[in-house]
Amino acid sequence: MTTITAAITAVGAYVPEFVLSNQVLETMVDTNDEWITTRTGIKERRLLKEKGKGTSFMAIKAAQDLIAKANINPEEIDLVIMATTTPDMPVASTGVYVASQIGAINAFSYDLQAACSSFLYGMSSAAAYIQSGRYKKVLLIGADKMSSIIDYTDRATCIIFGDGAGAVLFEPNYEGLGLQDEILKSDGIGREYLKIDAGGSILPPSIETVENRQHFVFQDGKTVFKYAVSGMADVSAKIMERNNLTKDDVNWLIAHQANKRIIDATANRMELDEEKVLVNIHRYGNTTSATLPLLLHDFEDKLKKGDNLIFAAFGGGFTWGSIYLKWAYNKQ
Ligand code: UT7
Repeated sequence: MTTITAAITAVGAYVPEFVLSNQVLETMVDTNDEWITTRTGIKERRLLKEKGKGTSFMAIKAAQDLIAKANINPEEIDLVIMATTTPDMPVASTGVYVASQIGAINAFSYDLQAACSSFLYGMSSAAAYIQSGRYKKVLLIGADKMSSIIDYTDRATCIIFGDGAGAVLFEPNYEGLGLQDEILKSDGIGREYLKIDAGGSILPPSIETVENRQHFVFQDGKTVFKYAVSGMADVSAKIMERNNLTKDDVNWLIAHQANKRIIDATANRMELDEEKVLVNIHRYGNTTSATLPLLLHDFEDKLKKGDNLIFAAFGGGFTWGSIYLKWAYNKQ
Protein backbone atom coordinates (compact mmCIF):
# COMPACT_ATOMS: atom_id res chain seq x y z
CA MET A 1 0.00 0.00 0.00
CA THR A 2 1.34 3.46 -0.88
CA THR A 3 1.84 5.75 2.09
CA ILE A 4 -0.12 9.00 1.95
CA THR A 5 1.65 12.09 3.18
CA ALA A 6 0.02 15.53 3.52
CA ALA A 7 1.58 18.22 1.35
CA ILE A 8 0.96 21.94 1.03
CA THR A 9 0.04 22.46 -2.63
CA ALA A 10 -1.05 26.12 -2.73
CA VAL A 11 -0.76 29.35 -0.73
CA GLY A 12 -2.80 32.56 -0.58
CA ALA A 13 -2.72 35.71 1.56
CA TYR A 14 -4.27 39.07 2.30
CA VAL A 15 -3.19 42.05 4.38
CA PRO A 16 -5.23 45.25 4.82
CA GLU A 17 -4.05 48.39 3.04
CA PHE A 18 -3.78 50.66 6.09
CA VAL A 19 -0.20 50.89 7.39
CA LEU A 20 0.54 51.84 11.00
CA SER A 21 4.21 52.85 11.11
CA ASN A 22 6.50 53.22 14.12
CA GLN A 23 6.56 56.96 13.37
CA VAL A 24 2.79 57.22 13.78
CA LEU A 25 2.90 55.10 16.96
CA GLU A 26 5.36 57.66 18.36
CA THR A 27 2.52 60.19 18.26
CA MET A 28 0.08 57.80 20.01
CA VAL A 29 2.08 56.39 22.96
CA ASP A 30 5.40 57.04 24.71
CA THR A 31 7.64 55.04 22.38
CA ASN A 32 10.09 55.54 19.54
CA ASP A 33 11.15 53.90 16.30
CA GLU A 34 14.61 53.03 17.65
CA TRP A 35 13.19 51.15 20.69
CA ILE A 36 10.63 49.24 18.65
CA THR A 37 13.13 48.34 15.93
CA THR A 38 15.91 47.15 18.22
CA ARG A 39 13.64 45.31 20.70
CA THR A 40 11.27 43.68 18.19
CA GLY A 41 12.42 44.18 14.57
CA ILE A 42 9.04 45.69 13.65
CA LYS A 43 8.83 48.80 11.43
CA GLU A 44 5.15 48.79 10.47
CA ARG A 45 1.99 46.71 10.70
CA ARG A 46 -1.30 46.52 8.75
CA LEU A 47 -4.68 47.31 10.33
CA LEU A 48 -8.18 46.51 9.09
CA LYS A 49 -9.84 49.84 9.71
CA GLU A 50 -13.18 49.55 7.91
CA LYS A 51 -16.11 49.42 10.31
CA GLY A 52 -18.13 46.22 10.30
CA LYS A 53 -15.33 44.10 8.81
CA GLY A 54 -13.89 41.32 10.93
CA THR A 55 -11.44 38.43 10.65
CA SER A 56 -13.65 36.65 8.10
CA PHE A 57 -13.17 39.52 5.64
CA MET A 58 -9.41 38.90 5.51
CA ALA A 59 -9.79 35.10 5.65
CA ILE A 60 -12.12 35.15 2.64
CA LYS A 61 -9.68 37.32 0.68
CA ALA A 62 -6.75 35.00 1.48
CA ALA A 63 -8.75 31.90 0.53
CA GLN A 64 -9.95 33.52 -2.71
CA ASP A 65 -6.35 34.43 -3.55
CA LEU A 66 -5.36 30.77 -3.10
CA ILE A 67 -8.34 29.46 -5.09
CA ALA A 68 -7.60 31.82 -8.01
CA LYS A 69 -3.86 31.09 -8.05
CA ALA A 70 -4.25 27.32 -7.76
CA ASN A 71 -7.25 27.32 -10.09
CA ILE A 72 -9.21 24.91 -7.90
CA ASN A 73 -12.94 24.41 -7.72
CA PRO A 74 -14.02 25.41 -4.18
CA GLU A 75 -16.76 22.78 -4.32
CA GLU A 76 -13.99 20.13 -4.12
CA ILE A 77 -12.79 21.36 -0.72
CA ASP A 78 -13.70 18.83 1.98
CA LEU A 79 -12.84 20.81 5.09
CA VAL A 80 -11.99 24.40 6.05
CA ILE A 81 -10.06 24.81 9.30
CA MET A 82 -10.11 28.40 10.49
CA ALA A 83 -7.20 29.13 12.82
CA THR A 84 -7.96 32.33 14.69
CA THR A 85 -7.90 33.99 18.07
CA THR A 86 -10.18 36.82 16.98
CA PRO A 87 -13.32 35.17 15.57
CA ASP A 88 -15.96 37.45 14.07
CA MET A 89 -18.25 36.66 17.04
CA PRO A 90 -17.94 34.63 20.27
CA VAL A 91 -20.66 32.29 18.98
CA ALA A 92 -21.16 31.28 15.32
CA SER A 93 -17.99 29.78 13.87
CA THR A 94 -16.06 32.16 11.63
CA GLY A 95 -14.81 29.28 9.49
CA VAL A 96 -18.33 28.17 8.65
CA TYR A 97 -19.17 31.63 7.31
CA VAL A 98 -15.88 31.81 5.38
CA ALA A 99 -16.45 28.38 3.80
CA SER A 100 -19.88 29.43 2.56
CA GLN A 101 -18.62 32.77 1.21
CA ILE A 102 -15.82 31.18 -0.82
CA GLY A 103 -18.16 28.64 -2.36
CA ALA A 104 -16.87 25.62 -0.41
CA ILE A 105 -20.42 24.36 -0.24
CA ASN A 106 -19.46 20.71 0.23
CA ALA A 107 -17.02 21.37 3.06
CA PHE A 108 -17.58 21.31 6.79
CA SER A 109 -15.68 23.81 8.90
CA TYR A 110 -14.67 24.77 12.40
CA ASP A 111 -12.49 27.27 14.25
CA LEU A 112 -9.27 26.30 16.01
CA GLN A 113 -7.90 28.55 18.75
CA ALA A 114 -4.43 28.16 20.22
CA ALA A 115 -3.29 31.81 20.24
CA CYS A 116 -0.10 32.31 18.20
CA SER A 117 0.23 28.54 17.66
CA SER A 118 -3.22 28.22 16.07
CA PHE A 119 -1.88 27.82 12.54
CA LEU A 120 0.85 25.37 13.59
CA TYR A 121 -1.67 23.19 15.43
CA GLY A 122 -3.98 23.55 12.41
CA MET A 123 -1.23 22.15 10.18
CA SER A 124 -1.15 19.05 12.37
CA SER A 125 -4.95 18.63 12.20
CA ALA A 126 -5.15 19.26 8.46
CA ALA A 127 -2.33 16.80 7.77
CA ALA A 128 -3.88 14.09 9.97
CA TYR A 129 -7.16 14.23 8.00
CA ILE A 130 -5.22 13.85 4.74
CA GLN A 131 -2.87 11.10 5.98
CA SER A 132 -5.82 9.07 7.22
CA GLY A 133 -7.17 9.03 3.66
CA ARG A 134 -10.45 10.51 4.86
CA TYR A 135 -10.26 13.82 2.96
CA LYS A 136 -8.49 15.01 -0.19
CA LYS A 137 -8.57 18.81 0.07
CA VAL A 138 -8.23 20.58 3.40
CA LEU A 139 -8.04 24.36 3.40
CA LEU A 140 -6.25 25.78 6.44
CA ILE A 141 -6.66 29.52 6.99
CA GLY A 142 -4.83 31.56 9.63
CA ALA A 143 -6.31 35.01 10.16
CA ASP A 144 -6.47 37.52 12.98
CA LYS A 145 -7.76 41.04 13.42
CA MET A 146 -5.52 41.77 16.40
CA SER A 147 -6.44 45.46 16.24
CA SER A 148 -9.88 44.47 17.59
CA ILE A 149 -8.39 43.34 20.94
CA ILE A 150 -5.43 45.72 21.32
CA ASP A 151 -5.39 48.76 23.58
CA TYR A 152 -3.81 51.56 21.55
CA THR A 153 -2.92 53.40 24.77
CA ASP A 154 -0.79 50.45 26.01
CA ARG A 155 2.72 50.72 24.60
CA ALA A 156 3.60 47.24 25.84
CA THR A 157 1.26 45.62 23.30
CA CYS A 158 0.14 48.13 20.65
CA ILE A 159 3.57 48.28 19.02
CA ILE A 160 3.66 44.53 18.45
CA PHE A 161 0.48 43.32 16.80
CA GLY A 162 -1.01 43.68 13.32
CA ASP A 163 -3.83 42.24 11.19
CA GLY A 164 -3.56 39.78 8.33
CA ALA A 165 -4.51 36.44 6.83
CA GLY A 166 -2.94 33.52 5.01
CA ALA A 167 -4.21 30.23 3.64
CA VAL A 168 -2.72 26.92 2.54
CA LEU A 169 -4.20 23.87 0.85
CA PHE A 170 -3.26 20.39 2.09
CA GLU A 171 -3.57 17.50 -0.35
CA PRO A 172 -2.39 13.87 -0.43
CA ASN A 173 1.12 13.23 -1.74
CA TYR A 174 2.50 9.89 -2.86
CA GLU A 175 6.19 10.88 -3.20
CA GLY A 176 6.85 11.25 0.51
CA LEU A 177 6.64 15.07 0.44
CA GLY A 178 4.70 17.16 2.97
CA LEU A 179 4.50 16.87 6.73
CA GLN A 180 7.19 14.56 8.13
CA ASP A 181 7.14 15.07 11.90
CA GLU A 182 5.76 17.31 14.62
CA ILE A 183 6.37 18.20 18.24
CA LEU A 184 3.43 20.08 19.75
CA LYS A 185 3.34 21.28 23.35
CA SER A 186 1.16 23.23 25.76
CA ASP A 187 1.40 24.34 29.39
CA GLY A 188 -1.35 26.11 31.35
CA ILE A 189 1.24 27.99 33.40
CA GLY A 190 1.12 30.57 30.60
CA ARG A 191 -2.47 31.65 31.25
CA GLU A 192 -1.41 34.42 33.63
CA TYR A 193 1.15 35.99 31.32
CA LEU A 194 -0.72 36.50 28.06
CA LYS A 195 -4.49 36.82 28.20
CA ILE A 196 -7.70 38.81 27.90
CA ASP A 197 -9.32 38.83 31.33
CA ALA A 198 -12.93 39.58 30.44
CA GLY A 199 -15.53 38.58 27.91
CA GLY A 200 -15.32 34.84 28.57
CA SER A 201 -17.24 32.58 30.94
CA ILE A 202 -15.21 33.51 34.03
CA LEU A 203 -15.72 37.24 33.69
CA PRO A 204 -18.55 38.04 31.26
CA PRO A 205 -18.74 41.54 29.77
CA SER A 206 -20.09 44.26 32.03
CA ILE A 207 -19.82 48.02 32.37
CA GLU A 208 -17.04 47.45 34.92
CA THR A 209 -14.99 45.21 32.63
CA VAL A 210 -15.21 47.80 29.88
CA GLU A 211 -14.31 50.66 32.21
CA ASN A 212 -11.37 48.64 33.56
CA ARG A 213 -10.15 47.96 30.00
CA GLN A 214 -10.26 44.21 30.63
CA HIS A 215 -11.27 43.30 27.08
CA PHE A 216 -7.82 44.07 25.73
CA VAL A 217 -4.76 41.81 25.50
CA PHE A 218 -2.54 41.85 28.56
CA GLN A 219 1.01 40.57 28.15
CA ASP A 220 3.85 40.22 30.65
CA GLY A 221 6.32 40.57 27.81
CA LYS A 222 9.50 39.72 29.70
CA THR A 223 8.12 36.40 31.00
CA VAL A 224 6.56 35.42 27.68
CA PHE A 225 9.84 36.28 25.95
CA LYS A 226 11.78 33.98 28.27
CA TYR A 227 9.45 31.02 27.72
CA ALA A 228 9.23 31.70 23.96
CA VAL A 229 12.99 31.69 23.48
CA SER A 230 13.55 28.40 25.28
CA GLY A 231 10.30 26.79 24.05
CA MET A 232 10.74 27.46 20.35
CA ALA A 233 14.47 26.75 20.32
CA ASP A 234 14.09 23.46 22.26
CA VAL A 235 11.47 21.89 20.00
CA SER A 236 13.17 23.09 16.81
CA ALA A 237 16.51 21.60 17.85
CA LYS A 238 14.78 18.39 18.99
CA ILE A 239 12.85 17.88 15.74
CA MET A 240 16.12 18.25 13.80
CA GLU A 241 17.86 15.78 16.05
CA ARG A 242 15.21 13.06 15.88
CA ASN A 243 15.00 13.36 12.09
CA ASN A 244 18.80 13.30 11.74
CA LEU A 245 18.81 16.74 10.13
CA THR A 246 22.00 18.79 10.29
CA LYS A 247 22.01 22.56 9.79
CA ASP A 248 22.97 21.89 6.15
CA ASP A 249 19.92 19.69 5.61
CA VAL A 250 17.49 22.42 6.70
CA ASN A 251 16.64 24.82 3.86
CA TRP A 252 14.29 27.22 5.63
CA LEU A 253 13.16 28.20 9.11
CA ILE A 254 9.53 29.39 9.08
CA ALA A 255 9.18 30.83 12.58
CA HIS A 256 6.29 32.68 14.19
CA GLN A 257 6.96 36.41 13.83
CA ALA A 258 6.56 37.74 17.37
CA ASN A 259 9.97 39.23 17.97
CA LYS A 260 13.08 39.20 15.77
CA ARG A 261 15.20 38.38 18.82
CA ILE A 262 13.16 35.21 19.48
CA ILE A 263 13.51 34.16 15.84
CA ASP A 264 17.29 34.77 15.99
CA ALA A 265 17.62 32.77 19.21
CA THR A 266 15.81 29.82 17.60
CA ALA A 267 17.95 30.05 14.46
CA ASN A 268 21.13 30.20 16.57
CA ARG A 269 20.17 27.04 18.48
CA MET A 270 19.64 25.33 15.11
CA GLU A 271 22.98 26.82 13.93
CA LEU A 272 21.27 28.08 10.77
CA ASP A 273 22.78 30.67 8.45
CA GLU A 274 20.89 33.95 8.37
CA GLU A 275 19.76 33.53 4.75
CA LYS A 276 17.78 30.41 5.68
CA VAL A 277 15.65 32.32 8.18
CA LEU A 278 12.54 33.79 6.58
CA VAL A 279 11.54 37.10 8.14
CA ASN A 280 8.77 39.61 7.39
CA ILE A 281 8.09 40.88 10.92
CA HIS A 282 9.32 44.35 9.90
CA ARG A 283 6.34 44.67 7.51
CA TYR A 284 3.46 43.15 9.48
CA GLY A 285 4.38 42.83 13.18
CA ASN A 286 2.83 39.88 14.97
CA THR A 287 -0.31 38.80 13.11
CA THR A 288 -0.86 35.81 15.46
CA SER A 289 -2.45 33.02 13.35
CA ALA A 290 -1.33 34.58 10.07
CA THR A 291 2.46 34.81 10.52
CA LEU A 292 3.37 31.36 9.17
CA PRO A 293 1.18 31.40 6.02
CA LEU A 294 2.20 35.02 5.32
CA LEU A 295 5.84 33.88 5.31
CA LEU A 296 5.02 31.06 2.89
CA HIS A 297 3.21 33.55 0.69
CA ASP A 298 5.93 36.20 0.71
CA PHE A 299 8.77 33.73 0.10
CA GLU A 300 6.91 31.21 -2.11
CA ASP A 301 9.33 31.95 -5.00
CA LYS A 302 12.30 30.74 -2.97
CA LEU A 303 10.79 27.43 -1.86
CA LYS A 304 11.74 24.49 -4.06
CA LYS A 305 10.29 20.98 -4.33
CA GLY A 306 11.99 18.73 -1.80
CA ASP A 307 13.24 21.58 0.44
CA ASN A 308 13.26 20.83 4.17
CA LEU A 309 11.23 23.41 6.12
CA ILE A 310 11.15 23.68 9.89
CA PHE A 311 8.11 25.55 11.24
CA ALA A 312 8.16 26.86 14.81
CA ALA A 313 5.70 28.85 16.89
CA PHE A 314 5.06 29.99 20.44
CA GLY A 315 1.89 31.57 21.80
CA GLY A 316 -0.43 32.30 24.70
CA GLY A 317 -1.65 29.47 26.86
CA PHE A 318 1.24 28.60 26.59
CA THR A 319 1.15 26.74 23.28
CA TRP A 320 4.15 25.96 21.12
CA GLY A 321 5.75 23.48 18.81
CA SER A 322 7.68 22.65 15.69
CA ILE A 323 6.81 20.89 12.44
CA TYR A 324 9.15 19.39 9.86
CA LEU A 325 7.71 19.54 6.33
CA LYS A 326 9.12 18.77 2.88
CA TRP A 327 8.00 21.38 0.34
CA ALA A 328 6.08 19.82 -2.56
CA TYR A 329 6.20 22.18 -5.55
CA ASN A 330 8.06 24.86 -7.48
CA LYS A 331 6.03 28.02 -8.02
CA GLN A 332 5.02 28.42 -11.68
O1 UT7 B 1 3.29 35.89 19.94
C1 UT7 B 1 2.93 35.45 21.21
C2 UT7 B 1 4.08 35.41 22.10
N1 UT7 B 1 4.55 36.75 22.40
C3 UT7 B 1 5.84 37.00 22.37
O2 UT7 B 1 6.61 36.15 22.01
C4 UT7 B 1 6.30 38.35 22.86
C5 UT7 B 1 7.40 38.17 23.85
N2 UT7 B 1 7.89 39.42 24.45
C6 UT7 B 1 8.55 40.35 23.73
O3 UT7 B 1 8.66 40.29 22.53
C7 UT7 B 1 9.22 41.47 24.51
O4 UT7 B 1 9.21 41.16 25.87
C8 UT7 B 1 8.58 42.86 24.30
C9 UT7 B 1 8.87 43.35 22.89
C10 UT7 B 1 7.10 42.80 24.54
C11 UT7 B 1 9.21 43.86 25.26
O5 UT7 B 1 10.64 43.90 25.08
P1 UT7 B 1 11.61 43.74 26.34
O6 UT7 B 1 12.97 43.86 25.82
O7 UT7 B 1 11.23 42.48 27.08
O8 UT7 B 1 11.26 45.02 27.18
P2 UT7 B 1 10.78 45.14 28.69
O9 UT7 B 1 9.35 44.77 28.83
O10 UT7 B 1 11.78 44.43 29.56
O11 UT7 B 1 10.96 46.67 28.93
C12 UT7 B 1 12.25 47.32 28.91
C13 UT7 B 1 12.05 48.80 29.12
C14 UT7 B 1 11.13 49.14 30.30
O12 UT7 B 1 11.62 50.35 30.87
P3 UT7 B 1 12.52 50.31 32.19
O13 UT7 B 1 11.68 49.62 33.24
O14 UT7 B 1 13.74 49.54 31.83
O15 UT7 B 1 12.77 51.77 32.46
C15 UT7 B 1 9.80 49.40 29.66
O16 UT7 B 1 8.98 50.24 30.41
O17 UT7 B 1 11.40 49.36 27.97
C16 UT7 B 1 10.21 50.04 28.36
N3 UT7 B 1 9.22 49.88 27.31
C17 UT7 B 1 9.14 50.68 26.24
N4 UT7 B 1 9.87 51.75 25.87
C18 UT7 B 1 9.55 52.33 24.68
C19 UT7 B 1 8.26 48.92 27.21
N5 UT7 B 1 7.56 49.09 26.07
C20 UT7 B 1 8.10 50.18 25.46
C21 UT7 B 1 7.81 50.84 24.25
N6 UT7 B 1 8.56 51.90 23.90
N7 UT7 B 1 6.82 50.44 23.41
